[in-house]
Amino acid sequence: MTTIANDPFALQDPALLRRQPYVDGRWRSGDGAPIAVANPATGASLGEVETLSPAAVIETIDAAERALPAWKALPARERANRLERWHDLILQHADDLARIMTLEQGKPLAEARGEIAYGASFAKWFAGEAVRAYGEIVPTPARDRRVLVLREAVGVCAAITPWNFPSAMIVRKTAPALAAGCTIVLKPAETTPFSALALAELAQRAAIPAGVFNVVLGDPPAIGKAFAAHPAVRKLSFTGSTRTGRLLLAQAAEQVQKVTLELGGNAPFIVFDDADVDAAVEGAIAAKFRNAGQVCVAVNRIFAHESVAARFTERLAARAAALKVGNGLDPDTQVGPLINRAALDRVAGLVDDVKTRGGKIVAGGKPHKLGGLFFEPTVVAGAPTDACIWREEIFGPLVTVTPFRDETEALRLANATEYGLASYFYTRDLGRAFRVAEGLQFGMVGVNVPFVSSECAPFGGVKASGIGREGSRHGIEDYLEIKTVWVGGI
Ligand code: SIN
Repeated sequence: MTTIANDPFALQDPALLRRQPYVDGRWRSGDGAPIAVANPATGASLGEVETLSPAAVIETIDAAERALPAWKALPARERANRLERWHDLILQHADDLARIMTLEQGKPLAEARGEIAYGASFAKWFAGEAVRAYGEIVPTPARDRRVLVLREAVGVCAAITPWNFPSAMIVRKTAPALAAGCTIVLKPAETTPFSALALAELAQRAAIPAGVFNVVLGDPPAIGKAFAAHPAVRKLSFTGSTRTGRLLLAQAAEQVQKVTLELGGNAPFIVFDDADVDAAVEGAIAAKFRNAGQVCVAVNRIFAHESVAARFTERLAARAAALKVGNGLDPDTQVGPLINRAALDRVAGLVDDVKTRGGKIVAGGKPHKLGGLFFEPTVVAGAPTDACIWREEIFGPLVTVTPFRDETEALRLANATEYGLASYFYTRDLGRAFRVAEGLQFGMVGVNVPFVSSECAPFGGVKASGIGREGSRHGIEDYLEIKTVWVGGI
């Protein structure tokens, strides 16, 4: 294990910083090639984490399988108590967890703190759902028979989580699994393993038993294949790109595993002529530049009615240009770095493409003068519809504004994408609010609000944006199977 002389983490509770996979209740020595982790704001090394070979990943799934019967049989109240304890511990250590996240992921510290609280809220929420996973008794046509509908834990689950929300996506997937009585093997993103391992440390302190919650690190395709091939894995939950989601969906067919896929987005944001334009500008700033735009539900394409487009664009450009870009540890920072060089090059490539095709840069448009992985918050006006930026998920601090004539055209433009995750619009007309919300082909719609994420509301997409819902009372369903029991001779 590599140690670093000058500890950049400087945590209040140094035991939260773990560098080994968490398997069957133990920190297991790696038998794979270690992964180096760097701070995207500075490029400085944060050290290495140990990884597992495919054989060790299979042993981890075996451990989760062994732990399943006892965990599933535990009264729901007791599973809920441990989830509540995990929630409390996450909040108690929020400052350390946020610092770990900012160091390995780059987002501003205030956003990281917000994400820790957001993630913890899923542990509390699903503790509540654990004790309400009710069954049914169904009246039957026969007098002497009854039908019972039981809702049982699916079994061993696998989860693959992304680097953009290194903590919240883990709790959003693991808490409903544990609440339902499933055991789980998690593979977090290689870029942000420390947040995941810190959550495992807290799960251990919350008395979540050995083998119930496991964290593996290693070669992503090999781990994905191990998850798909192991007959004990009955469900896979993945958040990430549509490209990888398609691959995992095909692999899951092998064992006919249940899947929850939260994939890419290409969110439209419509500003109608009756909107509160100032509120819409603030909404667009929040929904675009949070996490430097590296968010599945981030706004990609803004459509502004032709009567307000110039005013809206001018204000948006001014607000974007005034955002403070910098190291997330600086309390004034509003936009942090991109995650790696490939991400920066991709955003720069999208800007070049749209410029070449005649789009006009009205704010930003190039790598930030700070250098490294920082990119200027960028607004493009008049992006032609053949620009790559229209079709692709941007995942960076870049957005386009395009005028439209009427509601029909706005809906047509907004829906012209293979994706269907989040969408947003601003209007003060109640009838229009209903018409447009119903007309948008997206899993989530924000009407006069720039956020659609909460533990209390279903989160997920349609079309190429995924399958299933996370959060809310629906979030536990994907971790439960329905069993029908016929009882005769009554
Ligand atoms: C995501 O980008 O994957 C999740 C965003 C959220 O939960 O708000």
